[in-house]
Amino acid sequence: MDFLDNLVLPQSAHHMVLLKYLLVLTYIIFIPYVSILTGSLLYSIYFNRESRKHNNPACSSISKKIIDQITFNKSIALGLGVLPLLSVAFCYAQLLHLTGVNVPEYVLFSAFLMFASILFIYTYKYSFSLNRLFEKIKTVDNEETENELKGYTSSTRNLSSKSGIYGLILLLITIYIFSGAVSLAVDSTNWSTNNSFIGILLSFKTLVTFLQFLLFSFLATSIYLLYVYFRPSSEEILTTEEREGLRNFVLRTGLIFSIILPLFIVITLFIKPIASLSGNVFVLVTFSILLSLFISNLIYFMIKESHEKYSSSIFFVLIILFALMVVKDQFAFDTSTKKQFVILASNYEDYQTKLKESMGVAAAPISGADIYNGKCIACHKFDTRLVGPAYNDVLPKYEGKKEALVKFVLNPVKVNPEFPSMPNQGLKPNEAEAIATYLLEHPSKK
Ligand code: HEC
Repeated sequence: MDFLDNLVLPQSAHHMVLLKYLLVLTYIIFIPYVSILTGSLLYSIYFNRESRKHNNPACSSISKKIIDQITFNKSIALGLGVLPLLSVAFCYAQLLHLTGVNVPEYVLFSAFLMFASILFIYTYKYSFSLNRLFEKIKTVDNEETENELKGYTSSTRNLSSKSGIYGLILLLITIYIFSGAVSLAVDSTNWSTNNSFIGILLSFKTLVTFLQFLLFSFLATSIYLLYVYFRPSSEEILTTEEREGLRNFVLRTGLIFSIILPLFIVITLFIKPIASLSGNVFVLVTFSILLSLFISNLIYFMIKESHEKYSSSIFFVLIILFALMVVKDQFAFDTSTKKQFVILASNYEDYQTKLKESMGVAAAPISGADIYNGKCIACHKFDTRLVGPAYNDVLPKYEGKKEALVKFVLNPVKVNPEFPSMPNQGLKPNEAEAIATYLLEHPSKK
């Protein structure tokens, strides 16, 4: 797929810095949204199953509330889920231009999968309402209609569980491919050798990055739900029974994931290419581990003392933890791609010269005739003496010695006592070369 590469214009060093910021910004939007979407979908499916197993309406209602919480608006799903992926693909296409790695294509592919997954997730969401609708219509005296209604109820149930699962599977594949693409982008030493699609799917790094993402996403979802439903100022949206069920669930999952996450942060550090490590990365890793353990401590106290006082504090700690993790990955990307940026910057200069030549701009400053007319004509003519000597008098001694003439023009020295010294004209070497050629080849010289 070369078409993305064709879209790319060579970037100056400044543009690349901007693109990197754009990348960080996009991650800051995309990762929290997709994390909470994945976690919510999984939790919702879990509660939906529980409700069927134990025939418990409270679980079914929690399940619906969890998925409604994150799927409030369809355009937000596109804006926070699909659009950022397109933007990430575009940034990588520019930043990794000329490396030959297919990171942008893989990210683009994951954007398509993401889109499909969102369609299923919204089907899942609406199937709940449909299901409720059919369950509510109970007062029918006609047996035939009653059977028909039963059929609808079970088929919407079916639709709900299937679309949820399909959405989840697609979402996980999206994240898996995305994790593979991102870990390849950081790994500049592997760009030339190991970048086939299958190679990325089977790579250990992809797996670990993916698992880290999942862990973070479950932790984030638990804390988010804790914040939404249990922070001191939250409205009483849940019934007492729902509250009990959800509270135990999110606190327990939150505790478990906040303890496992540091482990994965350390593992990802070890599998990071050596080229991407720097002092900053280590400092950020240490802080993220501490924050994650701090979160597990707070959750532990809430379980032990059975209250929800820290719900909002934990949420804010989570935001800081997340920011640290994104910045850490960005530092790693920066460090490992230094060489690539030097290549791109010099490519940019070549490109500019070519562009100027094609527009006839570059030819101007190094044309001998232009320099003569612009800089020398005030003091020199070929046949008459002005401030300086006539060229026809002085040029013969430079015949066949262009180097000497270039040297004089670049740095004029006192020659003839009859004349004042010639001021330095501040020409660049290639300009001096051009004017020397021009003078020596000029037809009016004798
Ligand atoms: C401000 C006036 C002035 C300008 C502008 C000027 N020159 Fe001169 N040039 C002189 C003078 C005065 C001398 C005589 C210097 C001497 O003999 O020491 C001279 C001498 C020379 C000589 C003869 C050196 C020799 O070995 O005798 C050359 C060649 C020359 N200029 C080339 C140039 C070129 C090429 C430019 C334009 C890029 C230029 N000059 C612009 C004033 C000027």
